[in-house]
Amino acid sequence: MADQDFDVVVIGSGPGGYVCAIRAAQLGLKTACVEYEASLGGTCLNVGCIPSKALLQSSEHYAHTMHDLGKHGIKVDKVSLDLPTLLGRKDEVVKSLTQGIAGLFKKNKVTWLKGRGSFVNASTVKVTAADGSSSEYKTKHVVIATGSKPIEIPPAKYDRKLIVSSTGALKLPSVPKHLIVIGGGVIGLEMGSVWMRLGAKVTVIEAANSILPGLDSDLSKGLMKILQKEGMTFHLETKLTATKTGKDSVTATCQKPDGTTVEIKGDQMLVAVGRRANTEGLGLENIGITLEAGGKVPVDEHLRTPVPNVWAIGDVIKGPMLAHKAEDEGIAVAEWIAGKAGHVNYEAIPWVVYTWPEIAAVGISEDAAKQQGLEVKVGKFPFLANGRAKALGNTDGFVKIVADAKTDRIVGAHILGPNASELIAELAIAVEFGASAEDIARSTHAHPTLAECIKEAALGVDKRSIHI
Ligand code: NAI
Repeated sequence: MADQDFDVVVIGSGPGGYVCAIRAAQLGLKTACVEYEASLGGTCLNVGCIPSKALLQSSEHYAHTMHDLGKHGIKVDKVSLDLPTLLGRKDEVVKSLTQGIAGLFKKNKVTWLKGRGSFVNASTVKVTAADGSSSEYKTKHVVIATGSKPIEIPPAKYDRKLIVSSTGALKLPSVPKHLIVIGGGVIGLEMGSVWMRLGAKVTVIEAANSILPGLDSDLSKGLMKILQKEGMTFHLETKLTATKTGKDSVTATCQKPDGTTVEIKGDQMLVAVGRRANTEGLGLENIGITLEAGGKVPVDEHLRTPVPNVWAIGDVIKGPMLAHKAEDEGIAVAEWIAGKAGHVNYEAIPWVVYTWPEIAAVGISEDAAKQQGLEVKVGKFPFLANGRAKALGNTDGFVKIVADAKTDRIVGAHILGPNASELIAELAIAVEFGASAEDIARSTHAHPTLAECIKEAALGVDKRSIHI
């Protein structure tokens, strides 16, 4: 095989792409990954999941120190915020992780092709470097893993100063006095929470009739109540129609369903109304791929595009835009390419919203089950009745388990509460393994732990919770 030839070329090094490349290399395939950014890891590591979680952690420490330590008998005088250090720590976390991927590529002998990848034909990928020079590589398989980018809406074009996307919201140079957030989805609430905890007044404008539309309504209503108590303001069923920017201010004009308008003035605006697949410049027309409605790359159940040696994974195809979904698809595709049995169970993909308290869910909601005509039983248990939650001082929220009324099989699980992101793993495995609520109810959970709420909710499916 010539130097310029590969078994697999993965275009894009986000969680889908880099994981796919490593797995392909583990399976003995000569693999390259094309990435034009200066560091590997895509949106998730560079400007998404990881930096936002670093900021969430720092802002939680700050809010905790300001408002909660006193309750523990710990007195702290003169707490102040050092924003440059806080942002610098986030950058260090990102740097160490993205460098880690470069190390994993070396260890696994994955070649990083630096530049923008595009199709010359189905077995030739052109890589164009920042200086305009380009090289072509022959390959047996190509995996499209180019991810997504924030949607820009006409009434609020990003100016990267007053009107920012999720990327800009990770590096605001000072704490805004009033941050207007367009979109009460995952990004709006996570980043809105960060800046609220750091001292900003935050107003969320949401077009739907609830925040986090699509999620179990008990969760979205519960979270909204808690965030309102902390000072976040919400305008539901309200659509942004126009934005006016001044020197240091931004005014949002929004419309309510009855036709009335509301004007909200702030000093910065975060627009987080969804993301769209990155497909421009890929040369898909050169291989005859036409995008689906919504701009996604079409794939079959094995994530193969209509061109047999071209595959696609992650945000660029159907399904939720989640790093872990992309990772699992990357692994499955590498395995299918190598002639092995790949597997992604779309019924068992957990969701997490990293607000405080966190939200996590897997499977279908109670509302969705009812819409599907599925008869279900529901068990619910509040953290307020859990010893560990009381000791932690984090008693907001609940665990809710939705089970098939006939078979007792868990079809969905929903958590609003402390460490929901970690707790959901047990329930994701339960859904993956087809566990019943009885299976969870009969499994011993260590005491005192937050996980006991899961056992109690499972007992609650059969109306036999002990501690409530
Ligand atoms: P999203 O789809 O979660 O929320 C966008 C919200 O904006 C929706 O509630 C929608 O009703 C609302 N909206 C749309 N147009 C509007 C308008 N003109 N005025 C007012 N509201 C409007 O999208 P988001 O938050 O931008 O996140 C994008 C993607 O990134 C999501 O699909 C999510 O899966 C992924 N993500 C996941 C994270 C996680 O798993 N923790 C964290 C961050 C992002």
